[in-house]
Amino acid sequence: MPHLLTLCGSLRQGSTNRALLQALAHLAPAGLPVLHYEGIGELPLFNPDLSDTPPAAVRDLHAAVAAADGLLIACPEYARGIPGAFKNALDWLVASEQFPGKPVALFNASPRASEAQAALRLVLLTMSARIVESASVTVNLLSKGMTAADIVAEPGLAEVLRCALGHFQHDLKEARES
Ligand SMILES: Cc1cc2nc3c(=O)[nH]c(=O)nc-3n(C[C@H](O)[C@H](O)[C@H](O)COP(=O)(O)O)c2cc1C
Repeated sequence: MPHLLTLCGSLRQGSTNRALLQALAHLAPAGLPVLHYEGIGELPLFNPDLSDTPPAAVRDLHAAVAAADGLLIACPEYARGIPGAFKNALDWLVASEQFPGKPVALFNASPRASEAQAALRLVLLTMSARIVESASVTVNLLSKGMTAADIVAEPGLAEVLRCALGHFQHDLKEARES
C-alpha cells in the first residue's frame, strides 16, 4: 500500500519537529497514510565496516525507507548544523540501494534554522534524494509549544501543510505515470 514515512531529526520528547510530522499525518490526503519511523535514537554509530552486515536496527531503517513511497523530513538546527543523531541515520542510508531517487519533502519548523536546512539539502542531494520543492515548506513553531493537535487546529498553518502534502501527492503520481 502506498504510504509516506516521517523521519524526525529531534529525539526530544516535546519536539516541535515531531509535532509537525504528527500533524502532517493527520492532514495527509485520503489514500496516502503516513507512518512514523521512531528508531533514530536506537541506531548504532555509523561504521562503514558494518555496511555489508548491518545491525538489526539499521536493517529496520533500510526496510522502512525502502518500503515508503516518499519521505517527510523535519529536522532542527543544532550549533548551525544537522543534529548528530540525524546525520548518523543519514550516513547509514548512504549505502541503501533504494535511497537514490527517493522523493523527499523537507519541512522546517523554524525560520531561524536556515543553516541546518541548507546542510541537509546538500547531504540529501549528495545521497541522490529527489527533493520535491513544491512540498517543502518552512513554518514558525519555534517556542510556541504547539502539539500536533494545536497545529491541525490552526487553520492557516493546517492549510499550508495540507497544500504541501497535496503537491507531494501530485508529484508522486506524476513520477509514477511518467
Ligand atoms: C544544543 C543546541 C544547539 C542549538 N543550536 C541552534 C542553532 O544553531 N540555531 C538555531 O536556530 N537554533 C538552535 N537551537 C534551537 C533548536 O533548534 C530549537 O530549540 C528547536 O526547536 C529544537 O527542535 P525540536 O523542538 O524539534 O527538538 C539549538 C538547540 C540546542 C539544544
